[in-house]
Amino acid sequence: MKITSKELRQKWLDFYKSKGHVDIGAVSLIGDGSTGVMFNVAGMQPLMPYLLGAPHAQGRRLTNIQGCVRTVDIDSVGDSSHFTFFEMMGNWSLGDYFKKEKTAWTFELLTDVFGLDKDKLCTTVFAGNAAAPRDEETAQLVIALGIRPEHVFYLPKEDNWWELEGTVGTPCGPDNEWFYPIRNLDDPKFPDDYVEIGNDVYMQYKKTESGYEPLQNKNVDTGFGFDRMLLFLNGLTDGYETDLFAGAIRKLEEISGMVYAEGGEAQRAMRIIADHTRTALMLIGDVNGILPSNVGAGYILRRIMRRAIRYCRQLGVGSDAMLEVAKIFIREVYSDSYPLLGEKEGYILEEMGKEAERFEATLATGMKEFEKCLAGIARKNEFMGKSDPAYVPETVIGGKQAFRLYDTYGFPLELTEELAAERGLTVDTVGFDAAFREHQEKSRVIQKGEAKGGLESHSEQATKYHTATHLLNAALKAVLSPDCNQKGSNITDERMRFDFNFDRAMTAEEIAAVEALVNEKIAEDIPVVCREMSLEQARAEHFVGVFDSKYGETVRTYSIGDFSKEMCGGPHVQRTGVLGKFRIVKEQSSSAGVRRIKAVLE
Ligand code: ALA
Repeated sequence: MKITSKELRQKWLDFYKSKGHVDIGAVSLIGDGSTGVMFNVAGMQPLMPYLLGAPHAQGRRLTNIQGCVRTVDIDSVGDSSHFTFFEMMGNWSLGDYFKKEKTAWTFELLTDVFGLDKDKLCTTVFAGNAAAPRDEETAQLVIALGIRPEHVFYLPKEDNWWELEGTVGTPCGPDNEWFYPIRNLDDPKFPDDYVEIGNDVYMQYKKTESGYEPLQNKNVDTGFGFDRMLLFLNGLTDGYETDLFAGAIRKLEEISGMVYAEGGEAQRAMRIIADHTRTALMLIGDVNGILPSNVGAGYILRRIMRRAIRYCRQLGVGSDAMLEVAKIFIREVYSDSYPLLGEKEGYILEEMGKEAERFEATLATGMKEFEKCLAGIARKNEFMGKSDPAYVPETVIGGKQAFRLYDTYGFPLELTEELAAERGLTVDTVGFDAAFREHQEKSRVIQKGEAKGGLESHSEQATKYHTATHLLNAALKAVLSPDCNQKGSNITDERMRFDFNFDRAMTAEEIAAVEALVNEKIAEDIPVVCREMSLEQARAEHFVGVFDSKYGETVRTYSIGDFSKEMCGGPHVQRTGVLGKFRIVKEQSSSAGVRRIKAVLE
């Protein structure tokens, strides 16, 4: 090993610290919902407000190594280079230095610190379009540093423009990408013999509905793939041979008796188990840790874990192999840089074990059920084929059958699709969605009955005030700060009182904004949806409330669209439209750091 993962981490952080950057550490892997992206997919994602101009408490030069989860390529995991979790080595200038310093530092880091040959480095810059000019400045800067002019390429937006796909209001800009050869080292040709090792984005634009507008600040957003760099600096071509994975793979060889280096299906299974286990433990052990569930991020986690468990079976080992591998990752690889994983090891293993148990209890019967579906299709094809020469054989598993596998046997839809694909079949996903919705509608009808039962013991007006506190709580978070939390409330038939933490008096504008937002949500006449679920699931779905109850306990949750999600015993009105007009009559101090709002519904 020429450079270990620990050394690489240290070198990156030390280098940027020597250039005046502060190591801000990594944040949660779970997206905060502000971009609609479920997981953190890039190092810049948590820094979005600061790239857009808000001052950052730790200054204008920042660095870190940030974990990211990307599951779009999950089907490719199993080859040598696709992972669902990876880390990004980053550094940022928030309106501080720009192209001159950034090109010089990237060049210095790559050549002096990592010892790459400047004559082999290739780099690409933005060729320009109607939105932004050709990046001649960066091209000249890198040539002045010693990159060969014939190694600088101008490429269009598809290659040299970086933005978070599918978002609006986010920072973006042209980027400068760096490449190094991995083949034909004596006479490498760009791009065939090269791999991208990282990029410097010159974030000076904001994406709008119709195009791009300049930002006030000229920022730099750098991202170099940690896993990729580690591989490449060690002269490896298989990502599972770095010290991040070596222990996990050795463990799987030991448990299964198979040899990784022999390739084939066993190697693929080991890679999938290792990759998925790492992502799962990172998501469960995160500061905002989630648990497998049937919705949102929890569903993706479930899918990852169940996929790993299925490959354990394929490798001929039990799902406890996943737990053994998780232990290696936590103890030998990640707890130095993610101390929380060490602290939560027991919890992570326990939850992984529970999910494995839940799935294994139904996996064998589910597989039988799946085989029955296939047998049914085969029988039909045989019969019809005999009686009708023009018959086109059925190749689709029905949506209702896929839903049954999901609902009764815990097969994520994607698992059924993957199993089907292995046999040359597809799944009717539209039919699956329809079956899913039908099922939801049935549960909703049942819940409605329950909620109505609860209302009878409360006056109608108090119930309205109760729902209004949820709207107010969410509005305060939106207008003042996501850190504002309810500290208490008191409701009569005439008014509501609501206490929350905030360290100063609200301005008249803020009061007006909160009132307007609550009234807007009332005007939208949003249904108030009550759902019972496990505490773990409520936490995974980001319901707010007091999380001091015991695990395994069932809690009642109320959602008002996407606007408000609270754990609460109820009761609540069924739609916000019935609340009338919300007015804040007073905002005052309640105690140190706690404010009190008195409000009425008119
Ligand atoms: N934001 C850039 C990336 O993710 C650095 O590659």
